[in-house]
Amino acid sequence: MAKILVKKSKALNGEVNISGSKNAALPIMAATMLAEGECVIEGAPLLTDIYNMKNLMQHLGSSIEILDEGTLKIQQNSFTSHESPYELASKLRASFLVAGPLLARTGYAKIALPGGCQIGSRPVDLHIKGLGALGAKITQGHGYIELSCKKLKGANIYLDFPSVGATENILMAASLAQGQTTIENAAVEPEIVDLANFINLMGGDIKGAGTDTIRINGVKKLNGAKYLVIPDRIEAGTFMVAAAITKGNVKIKNVLPNHLKPISAKLREIGVNIQEGEDHIIVQGCDKVKPTDIKTLPFPGFPTDMQAQFTSLLSTIEGTSLIIETIFENRFQHAAELKRMGANIKIEGNFEIIEGTKQLSGAPVKATDLRAGAALVIAGLVAEGETEVSEAHHIDRGYYKFCEKLKSLGADLTRIDD
Ligand code: EPZ
Repeated sequence: MAKILVKKSKALNGEVNISGSKNAALPIMAATMLAEGECVIEGAPLLTDIYNMKNLMQHLGSSIEILDEGTLKIQQNSFTSHESPYELASKLRASFLVAGPLLARTGYAKIALPGGCQIGSRPVDLHIKGLGALGAKITQGHGYIELSCKKLKGANIYLDFPSVGATENILMAASLAQGQTTIENAAVEPEIVDLANFINLMGGDIKGAGTDTIRINGVKKLNGAKYLVIPDRIEAGTFMVAAAITKGNVKIKNVLPNHLKPISAKLREIGVNIQEGEDHIIVQGCDKVKPTDIKTLPFPGFPTDMQAQFTSLLSTIEGTSLIIETIFENRFQHAAELKRMGANIKIEGNFEIIEGTKQLSGAPVKATDLRAGAALVIAGLVAEGETEVSEAHHIDRGYYKFCEKLKSLGADLTRIDD
């Protein structure tokens, strides 16, 4: 199991390049299964989740080649299987995103439930409601969901919650359905827009992505296309917090500042200096900082994927901060680990009350999920002494060359793979 030894570091300084978005690349990979012809996806981050998605798609019949750093050449000529087996599907939540394309292309899909993880039960009922509305006959049992339908038909679907994954699955299936589909109360995350742009490039007819009402006119066929994935706004946000917590001065390149607005707004509220450029953002930490309150919400609200990192930052800012987590029911696992480092955090339901303390102390801690792992490394940068973050493989799921990038900014850390 991998671990990362983090020593108290000086203020981070320099420039870092952000990789492509994991949460855009994964649905876009699934969407290539809709096309007859070759797709070339550029800018995909070569993360564990991407490799796991590649293995799953190859099991279904995709031919996938990884060219240079982050270019995927994908062709889905025929389907050698209609089943997404548990041993492959259980490795990543996004495995469920093959349901829509497989059903739309072949009329049948048997998908292992992706299961919950540390941050919550993560049901797929909204995915099922949407695909059912398009005409799929759905049965569940033995940890699998079976969906069948000769030809999907457009429908009007209202999502009880603006689920990112459910919006993506329905969007993909509806692209090859007969007639028009409307998704209301759709997720508006940038990754949804990226997916819709890619499908339209393949010949799809999707309007309204990025708003809460998306209209899809089904087409007979989609063709291969070449596409560059958007930058990862959560990786960018993670480095913004690393610069802030160490009171550093870091230029974060290859970002879309518009995607970072809730993160920049919160850092400015705290007192951090943020300067936005066309495709970069400069973060200058400072001594005069103050506590703040955060409530995680669907985009453009404050992203749940940045909650753990801000818990680390607010743990070092004197005064009382409050974080309310509204998206996942169990996303405070990092708090117990931060408390081992001397953080003063109380959890009440989905409320996290933080009494900031001037100085954290290094300790052995455990990464429980990818964002929590990143948050613990960030806390280790300013904790007295050494912090050992075990189970660091979680971090590899969502961060490409995380340690190398931090070290290039002056972080004092070592990764040990045993
Ligand atoms: C995506 O997960 C992201 N993952 C998550 O990022 C992110 O935290 C999440 O969106 C919210 O922004 C990928 O894109 C691969 P949801 P997803 O469906 O699609 C409930 C990371 O750190 N829900 O919007 O699974 C669900 O339980 C990961 O990179 C249902 O109840 O998120 C949760 O409470 C973590 N029924 C809430 O909605 C459903 O059918 C949000 O889930 C679907 C979801």
